Amino acid sequence: MLTLAVETSCDETALCIYSEERGVIGDIILSQAKVHFPYGGVVPELSAREHTRNLLPLFDKLLKDTNFDIRRIDFVSFTLTPGLILSLVVGVSFAKAIAFTLKKPLVPVHHLEGHIYSVFLEKPVEYPFIALIVSGGHTDLYLVEGFGRYMFLGGTLDDAVGESYDKVAKLMGLGYPGGPIIDRLAKEGKPVYELPRPLIDEDTLNMSFSGLKTAVRRLIETESCRKEDLSASFQKAVIDVLERKTLLAMEKTGVRRLVVVGGVSANSELRRRFSELSERLGFELHIPHPRLSTDNAQMIAYAGMERFRRGITAPEDINPEPNMPLEVFGRLWS
Ligand code: KG4
Ligand code: ZN
Repeated sequence: MLTLAVETSCDETALCIYSEERGVIGDIILSQAKVHFPYGGVVPELSAREHTRNLLPLFDKLLKDTNFDIRRIDFVSFTLTPGLILSLVVGVSFAKAIAFTLKKPLVPVHHLEGHIYSVFLEKPVEYPFIALIVSGGHTDLYLVEGFGRYMFLGGTLDDAVGESYDKVAKLMGLGYPGGPIIDRLAKEGKPVYELPRPLIDEDTLNMSFSGLKTAVRRLIETESCRKEDLSASFQKAVIDVLERKTLLAMEKTGVRRLVVVGGVSANSELRRRFSELSERLGFELHIPHPRLSTDNAQMIAYAGMERFRRGITAPEDINPEPNMPLEVFGRLWS
């Protein structure tokens, strides 16, 4: 079984040709980071325009590089939701055009489901497991009981973790995306600044990160901070909260198998801390390779394959949604 997968939900234009038997046949990603860099965050209109500009040339390159006959695919997988609506429209329209031309079915994937299954590209994980999703748009804990069976446990009440990395980097004048820059700087710094960890000691799986960003802003306004130390302090506060809430989720559900996915799971300190924790407490941990942590189309292909195998396809007039909860998606498309 073969699929073409299309991912355009944010600032990466990504395509993948994936075989159920052989795995990835071809994979291509074009990051728009340079376009958004001067703005310190993703500009939705620019993102959609870049996807429109780049999708066909990327598709052409993918076919040439792999020498693949696109008529061989069995279906087209695509990110239906959530994401920047204009950017999703570009990818969904492209997926529809290919499916229509080749007379092949369309298979919708939820972007967060894609992130969860990014770990399966390396090695399938047994159910049930806890998924900590940390990306630019989401910071959520789910109990995953099977494919498509997602139970929301808790998540951020305000900023997503990746968003706060990006906002703090902008405050520090570091550019976009802030996550990898802060990750790098923090290695040279010490967590010497006191920063808040909202809700950390409360018996809730919800989190809050906007106060942390405000505290960083105040600190920058009142004293001249060493960027490396501020990065290390911010990062420590974030990971302390993520660690505590994930442990609480495992405690409340009794599930001792964890996957950590999404762009922020590429963070070197987060990976180190969670690995240490899993060794110390003896739970099973799966984090994808950093290349698969950030947005890509391989994860959309994998989840699409799972769905197609269950006979789930979408009608030709399907429309993208900016923000359908994962739990709802799992119920609708099962
Ligand atoms: O999953 P992703 O690629 O896109 C969304 O679905 O949002 O996540 C992007 C986010 C950005 O906020 C970026 O700053 C963050 O992931 N990120 C990182 C690192 N690499 C990417 N955050 C911390 N450390 C990193 N190494
Ligand atoms: Zn993502």
